[in-house]
Amino acid sequence: MNTTPRPLGNAPVSVGPLGLGCWPIAGMTRAGVTPAAAEATVRMAVDLGITHLDTAFCYGERGESERAIAAAIRGRRNAIVIAGKCGIHWEPDAGATPPRRQVVDGRPERLRAEVEESLRRLETDHLDLLYLHAPDPATPIAESAGELRRLLAEGKARAIGVSNVSLPQLEAFIAACPLAACQLHFNMLQREIEREFLPWCRSHGVAMVVYWPLMKGLLAGAMRRGQVFPQTDSRHKYPMFNGVEFERNLDFVDRLRPIAARLGCDLPDLVLAWTAEQPGITSVLFGATSPEQVAINARALAVELDDESRRDIAAAIAARGPVANRRPV
Ligand SMILES: NC(=O)c1ccc[n+]([C@@H]2O[C@H](COP(=O)([O-])OP(=O)(O)OC[C@H]3O[C@@H](n4cnc5c(N)ncnc54)[C@H](OP(=O)(O)O)[C@@H]3O)[C@@H](O)[C@H]2O)c1
Repeated sequence: MNTTPRPLGNAPVSVGPLGLGCWPIAGMTRAGVTPAAAEATVRMAVDLGITHLDTAFCYGERGESERAIAAAIRGRRNAIVIAGKCGIHWEPDAGATPPRRQVVDGRPERLRAEVEESLRRLETDHLDLLYLHAPDPATPIAESAGELRRLLAEGKARAIGVSNVSLPQLEAFIAACPLAACQLHFNMLQREIEREFLPWCRSHGVAMVVYWPLMKGLLAGAMRRGQVFPQTDSRHKYPMFNGVEFERNLDFVDRLRPIAARLGCDLPDLVLAWTAEQPGITSVLFGATSPEQVAINARALAVELDDESRRDIAAAIAARGPVANRRPV
């Protein structure tokens, strides 16, 4: 894999091809990730040279992800690119299981308050990259973008990004704020961004950072046929982990295994190496729940695909066909 640092648009910030996604360590996707395991997971990434850490105000009800990062990088802050997000928070909801609901709130005063709280939790005075996590349907995106522009001017962020947007929202955002990065989902089976977003980012000089490269763990190869996700694991809600869709996805994973074996690498490394080399992809965020997973995934940095592997992967993707919508059921 080409490990040369890549700039985030015109911003004075560069990232490596792999970043650690710090959502699973918040313990909300999968219950039972301890603070010690969360901290050790981040520390392992940094020790192995993965210094792009992606988090958000809402990763954990009380900032568990940001606090784990702060603990793991003490004394090493200058070597790290911290990417944070604002604009989504949790509120209690007794009628829901678990008893909380996600609220998208992009009002300027709310965004500023979240960034200030994130900086306290992270024990730092700036974010290297600050995303609007998602547009708020009740707030014009130019208003949210304007507040991020002010935070950039004040030095609380060194670069600005936006996530989970439509193309018209991207256009409105960039008209109101210098934009360095866009963050959307992308993996072997979910490649919608290739049609419009990647060309748009290329033509506007905006970096593309992608999430879900392992399809929430499915493409890491550890899931079993017949596996049922508990209610505490948010994956139970997605079509891709249920019924026939799940079976077909596991068939796809089985087609990848011999390709990884031939290259002498683990399956997640094959998947991450393929993802990182797709044209227009700046950095690939993988999540992990343990230092062991990070150690395996970091070996992707040393994987070189060959033409035979690329052909076999393309054939497996074509045989799988389109996957069910990403949205929870
Ligand atoms: N902007 C947004 O709205 C948005 C949305 C989603 C994600 N993100 C970001 O993108 C990052 C990546 O997404 P993601 O974490 O949801 O999904 P992902 O990277 O596709 O999958 C992560 C999961 O894969 C499993 N895994 C990882 N390495 C493994 C290994 N070596 N062996 C076996 N299993 C392994 C772990 O699941 P187990 O729990 O089974 O251990 C882990 O939680 C997030 O962490 C977050 O920073 C952003």
